[in-house]
Amino acid sequence: MTVKVTVTGAAGQIGYALLFRIASGQLLGPDTPVKLSLLEITPALKAAEGTAMELDDCAFPLLRGIEISDDPNKAFDGANVALLVGARPRTAGMERGDLLQANGGIFGPQGRAINDHAADDIRVLVVGNPANTNSLIAQSAAPDVPAERFTAMTRLDHNRALSQLGAKLNVPITEIKKMTIWGNHSATQYPDLYHTEVAGKVAAELVEEAWLRDTFIPTVAKRGAAIIEARGASSAASAANAAIDHVHDWVNGTPEGDWTSAAIPSDGSYGVPEGLISSFPVVSKNGKWEIVQGLEIDAFSRERIDASVQELVEERDAVKELGLI
Ligand code: NAD
Ligand code: LMR
Repeated sequence: MTVKVTVTGAAGQIGYALLFRIASGQLLGPDTPVKLSLLEITPALKAAEGTAMELDDCAFPLLRGIEISDDPNKAFDGANVALLVGARPRTAGMERGDLLQANGGIFGPQGRAINDHAADDIRVLVVGNPANTNSLIAQSAAPDVPAERFTAMTRLDHNRALSQLGAKLNVPITEIKKMTIWGNHSATQYPDLYHTEVAGKVAAELVEEAWLRDTFIPTVAKRGAAIIEARGASSAASAANAAIDHVHDWVNGTPEGDWTSAAIPSDGSYGVPEGLISSFPVVSKNGKWEIVQGLEIDAFSRERIDASVQELVEERDAVKELGLI
């Protein structure tokens, strides 16, 4: 069956890094034909057409059509996968709070369009920031879609954490298992090494405590800002790569003996208020995310998780006050 994948903000930087990988089969696997639906705002339609021309010019064997629209009702019609990328990126000096206001209006109408027009098996990944709360806004506008189908991306943070730890210990990424990002995709996120395993040993015991607390955590949590500082624009290819990883694992499952990180609606696990879209250690089985249960959380981790979850509570309350959920 051909899978329809809708990408919003298709003419943006992440869109450009993402669409070719989807069309080449890296999102869903080498046996799944895809149809792309590109949603953009009206002034960016021409640029989206240019990208579509380039997609045509790749002659991807799995690509079975491209639609371009500025109407969410058309773009999400029959969609099986929705990658909500289009948003206003944070620029140097801009605070996350400003983003709530600027982006809130985008995700309500898109959620409604998904509710009314997407396929029954729709899966939604929100990439556009503030991703967790944008996902909550879209979800609340889509009461007929199971809540669990709305997720937000912390896979980039997860991959950053793997890479930082691999470099520190001089081990290949393939040796590292059970990394976890907890909470919000923001500087409050908590990358947790207390359950991470490196060649069977607990990662937190292989590094100095000072490195873990004063270097590892802030480097991962502030990497987005560091990329903006260096490139003058937010991460694009690495964000697209993480989106591919998230959806690929959601659809195809996570490998035995490992888990990953994704922001999914909380069921109350680990004291995270039910309904918040917060990052957890997760596995994907039979096309569904499940939160890894039974991990012991020490006092240090508890405090870090609570701080990030508190930020999510505040974002939720702020968008509630703005009438966005
Ligand atoms: P960009 O500015 O290059 O592209 C955004 C695109 O979205 C633009 O083409 C714009 O026209 C489009 N757009 C704006 N409003 C839209 C709407 N209502 N419907 C459809 N399209 C719309 O930005 P980018 O670099 O591609 O980043 C996109 C978002 O992803 C930003 O919010 C950025 O902060 C976020 N991001 C998230 C992560 C993460 O890990 N979750 C990582 C990197 C970037
Ligand atoms: C990132 O983590 O790279 C981005 O979310 C940064 C940003 O604010 O766009």
